[in-house]
Amino acid sequence: MSRMEVAQVLHMNGGVGDASYANNSLVQQKVIYLTKPIREEAITSLYCSMLPKSLAIADLGCSSGPNTLSVVSEFIKMVEKLCRELKHKSPEYKVYLNDLPGNDFNNIFKSLDTFKEKLCDEIGSAIGPSYFSGVPGSFYSRLFPNRSLDFVHSSYSLQWLSKVPEGVENNRSNIYIGSTSPTNVVRAYYQQFQRDFSVFLKCRAEELVEGGRMVLTILGRKSDDPSSKEGCYIWELMATALNDMVLQGTIKKEQLDTFNIPQYTPSPSEVKLEVLKEGSFFINRLEVSEVHWNAFDEWNALEFEYERSESLSDGGYNVAQCMRAVAEPMLVSHFGEDIIEEVFSRYQQILADRMSKEKTKFFNVTILLTRKA
Ligand SMILES: C[S@@+](CC[C@H](N)C(=O)[O-])C[C@H]1O[C@@H](n2cnc3c(N)ncnc32)[C@H](O)[C@@H]1O
Repeated sequence: MSRMEVAQVLHMNGGVGDASYANNSLVQQKVIYLTKPIREEAITSLYCSMLPKSLAIADLGCSSGPNTLSVVSEFIKMVEKLCRELKHKSPEYKVYLNDLPGNDFNNIFKSLDTFKEKLCDEIGSAIGPSYFSGVPGSFYSRLFPNRSLDFVHSSYSLQWLSKVPEGVENNRSNIYIGSTSPTNVVRAYYQQFQRDFSVFLKCRAEELVEGGRMVLTILGRKSDDPSSKEGCYIWELMATALNDMVLQGTIKKEQLDTFNIPQYTPSPSEVKLEVLKEGSFFINRLEVSEVHWNAFDEWNALEFEYERSESLSDGGYNVAQCMRAVAEPMLVSHFGEDIIEEVFSRYQQILADRMSKEKTKFFNVTILLTRKA
């Protein structure tokens, strides 16, 4: 998949239907919840060091669903609380929501009025004036004017590469780095991550003001080994479903051999290395958190406004739906629509079987950075 194709094909399932990202993003919601203390630290230190009259914040890879505005809401609440404590006037907020052009921005825009009303109700008073904009485009390019942002946030988006790396033609029967991937494939994926992440850092270094903060959470791994199960297993099991369909004759072998996911799940040291090489940021914090594949496993659904139903307690179904919301547009574009139901029904069974036998987790690498003077 070339860069252009990724920009067109990569998006979460839009709308609010059963397979939509909006209804299948509980894992990502939980990750946002787990990383709240790091944002709290970032926002408090940002506000107290600058005492700004105006704050520009950007959420990169915002998608469309309950998570899209949750970090913005949290940000505004934290700043309003600081203003009250310090007896300052509220600043004005400039909020930029970025994603690739295929994202369901309309769905976000339609929810903005209700969002603002709810936020004022929750805070119990009027907030500073807030101005929202959608910014379609790749975060692997410049998106904002020089020195125009105070705070950049991104959660569960930077594991997506700008394109499938070149030179992975021999990654047969795999769709990402897998236990049988040749070493050149593993290297190609890592090098693509290095190129992409360094471009990302360079662009944000131009766009952030001095002292601006950036909190990035990336689906990653703890292990130093890029082919460790931690980052790859979820895709390897999808590849199993696809390989079964090749054996059955519903998918052509060449079709599977030429399909690779534009993703890389980095370790904390790989993230750190790129930040140090780029040189524009201090690293304030670098942490790894963990979340079960099936977020309902250990999650109080009611607290997060998800209705618990019989189907939601089925781990295989939950995880398959979560992955479907993320991967369906890419699969449809490569294999066509007809195979989708069967892929995900097989995948659900494979997932349920593995999850009954082993503890399966996603690992999240979070980094807090400050733009140097
Ligand atoms: C799994 S969603 C995460 C959404 C949201 N931040 C959350 O935590 O629920 C990843 C999002 O990143 C977006 N994305 C991937 N690559 C991107 C790029 N190069 N530029 C902008 N957005 C991108 C995808 O379109 C998708 O909406």
